[in-house]
Amino acid sequence: MTLKIKSLTQYKNTYRESVQKPEKFWAAQARTFQWRKRWEKVLDWNFDEPDIKWFIGGKLNITENCLDRHLKKSRNKIALIWESNDPSQPHKEYTYGQLYEEVCQCANALKAMGIKKGDRVCFYMPMVPELTIGVLACARIGAIHSVVFAGFSANALADRIKDAQCKMVICSDYNSRGAKNIPVKAVVDEALRKGCRSVKTVLVQKNTGESIRMKKGRDRWWHDEVPKRKKACDAEEMDSEDLLFILYTSGSTGKPKGVVHTCGGYMVYTAFTFKNVFQYERGDIYWCTADIGWITGHSYIIYGPLLAGATTMMFEGVPTYPNAGRFWHVCEKHRVNQFYTAPTAIRALMAQGDEWPAHYDLSSIRVLGTVGEPINEEAWNWYNEKIGKGQAPIVDTWWQTETGGILISPLPGLHKLKPCYAMLPMPGIQPCLMDANGKEIRKREAEGLLCIKFPWPSMIRTTYGDHERCRQTYFSTFPGMYFTGDGAKRDSDGAYRIIGRVDDVINVSGHRIGTAEVENAINEHEDVIESAVVGYPHRIKGQGIYGFVIAGKKITNAAKFKKEVHAVVTKVIGPIAKPDKIQVVSGLPKTRSGKIMRRILRKIAAGDTANLGDTSTLLNPEIVEEIKKSAAQAV
Ligand code: WT7
Repeated sequence: MTLKIKSLTQYKNTYRESVQKPEKFWAAQARTFQWRKRWEKVLDWNFDEPDIKWFIGGKLNITENCLDRHLKKSRNKIALIWESNDPSQPHKEYTYGQLYEEVCQCANALKAMGIKKGDRVCFYMPMVPELTIGVLACARIGAIHSVVFAGFSANALADRIKDAQCKMVICSDYNSRGAKNIPVKAVVDEALRKGCRSVKTVLVQKNTGESIRMKKGRDRWWHDEVPKRKKACDAEEMDSEDLLFILYTSGSTGKPKGVVHTCGGYMVYTAFTFKNVFQYERGDIYWCTADIGWITGHSYIIYGPLLAGATTMMFEGVPTYPNAGRFWHVCEKHRVNQFYTAPTAIRALMAQGDEWPAHYDLSSIRVLGTVGEPINEEAWNWYNEKIGKGQAPIVDTWWQTETGGILISPLPGLHKLKPCYAMLPMPGIQPCLMDANGKEIRKREAEGLLCIKFPWPSMIRTTYGDHERCRQTYFSTFPGMYFTGDGAKRDSDGAYRIIGRVDDVINVSGHRIGTAEVENAINEHEDVIESAVVGYPHRIKGQGIYGFVIAGKKITNAAKFKKEVHAVVTKVIGPIAKPDKIQVVSGLPKTRSGKIMRRILRKIAAGDTANLGDTSTLLNPEIVEEIKKSAAQAV
C-alpha cells in the first residue's frame, strides 16, 4: 500500500527521511506497484546534461497498474463517471472491469491500424470517455500519446503533430460545449492540409453526430474500428524510462515545447501525490474539473486516480452551463468528496452570487483543491466559506507541466492553512529560493526565484526532439538546479507562497501562454509592424493579455482593428490567446541593444504609471510618455 501520511508529525518525519535517503524512500513507494521486472538501481542523475533516470532497468506497463491490478478486488467498482455537457443527458459509468475491456478493445484497434510501440498518437478531442480510453490504450501498447487541447487552432495543432511526427490523430466530430457545438474534425482536416505527412490514419469518435467529411483511405470511425475487437490485450512491456507521453506547453520563445514524461517515475509520483494530497479513501468520489488537454487532466483525472483504484469523474461541460450552479449540482448529484478546480473558475462563479452554491447540498465535500495560478484571498475565502462551509480544507497545489505531479501543497487536515499559501513541499521535494545573483537564500523568511535542488520521479526528462532546449530552459539559469520560472515567498514557518511567473509567460485563466507566441500571431495581421504583449491583472482571469501594437497605417476604427487582431490570433493559436486589450502605439520602449523593456509596458498595462523606474537606458525614452498618454485609448 502506498504510504498515506496522517499527521503533521508523520509528515515531518517522512519528509526528513525522504530527503536524507531519497532512493530508499522512493523505492519503498515503487514497491507497492506491479512491475514485470524489479529495477536494478533507483536513481541516476545529473542536472548539467540533464540526464535523469528513475527505477533503472525496471519493466512495467502503467495500465496494468491502473486497470489489471484492480480487477481482482474491484472489478465492479466504478472507475470512471462521465457527466455530459447537457444536464438532461444521463451520465455514464465504467467499472474497472468495463474500462479494462474498452481500453483493451481500443488497444487492439490501434494495433490493427498499424500503431506500434514508440509511435506517436495525437489526441484532439473534447472531454469524452473515449479520450481517457484512447490515452490508456496507447499506454497499453507502448504508443506515446500527445494530447492537444481542443481549443487550439488548426495551425497550432499542425505544429504539434509535425513536431512529434504523429502517425495517427484521434478526434471527435464535434465538441458540445455549453450552448455551442464546435467543429473538431474539420479543424483536424485543416491541420492535415498543412503538410502533416506523418499522419496515416484519423480515428473519429461520433460525439454529436452532425455531418463531417471522411477522407477515404485515411479516416475511420471509432464505432467501426473499436467495438469489434477482442476485450483483452496483453500489455507491452515498457522500460521504466521509455516515453509515456508528450505534452506541449508554452515558454518564453514562440515555439511550444514537447515536455516528455516517462513510465516508471511518473506512475510512482502521481499515485503517491494523489493519495496524499486528496486523502482519498476507498469509496470516495473524486472530481477534477480540468481538461485532459492539460497536465492536470493527465495526472489527476486519469493516471493518479486510476493508479490509486479511485472513482474519478470526467466532466464534458463548462461551469456556467446551463447556469452558474452546474458545478454544485454535479457535486450534489454524485456526492463528490474531493473537488479540484482552478482559481479562475472560482472567481467566475463567485461573481455570479452566493445563491448558486446555496441551492445545493455540498455536504459530501471533504477536500477542496485549486491549481494553475495564484489564488487571491477573496476567492480563497469564498471557496472556503461558500463551498467548503469552513469544513473542507483547501489544498492549493503548486506544480507544472514539467513537474508531472504536485510538488508543493498542504496536506488536508494535517496543519492550519494559510490562505493563498501552497504551504510545504511533498516528501522528496527539495525547493529553494535563489537570488538574482544565483545564490541560494538561506534565510527562512525570504522571497526569491523558486528552484528545486534534487530530482523527483515524475520530473521532465527532455523536450521532445530538442534536448538542448530542455537544458537551457530549466537547468542553465542556476547550474545544478531545476528552475521553475516562478517567484515565491517563504514565511517563518517555512511555508511557500507562489507569486507567479518571472519569465515571459502569462497565466490566463490558468492557461499558460507565451508572450512571444501571441506577438508572432498578432504580427501576422497585414497592418501590424511590431507588437509587444504583456500580462496585466484581470479580475476573473487572473491575468489578461495586453498587446501594444505598432500599425503600418493609421487605425481609425480601433474596435474593428481589435476584432481583426482577434481573428488572426484565433487562427494562429486559438481563442484562449486573444488579447483582452489592444493599444496602438507609434513605438515601443527599447534598450540600446534593441530589447523591448517589458517592465515598463507591464506597469502601463496595469495602470501603475506613477513610478516607471529608470528609463534612462532606453534608446527612445520619449516614447514612454506617449504610450502613457495614449493608454486611455486602449480597447
Ligand atoms: C504554472 C504552470 C500544474 C497544473 C496547471 C498548470 C502556475 C500552478 C499554481 C498554484 C500559483 C500556480 C505557476 C506554474 N501555478 N499552480 N497553486 N499557485 N501558481 O500547469 O500550464 O504547466 O503552468 O502555473 O506559475 O509555473 P502549467
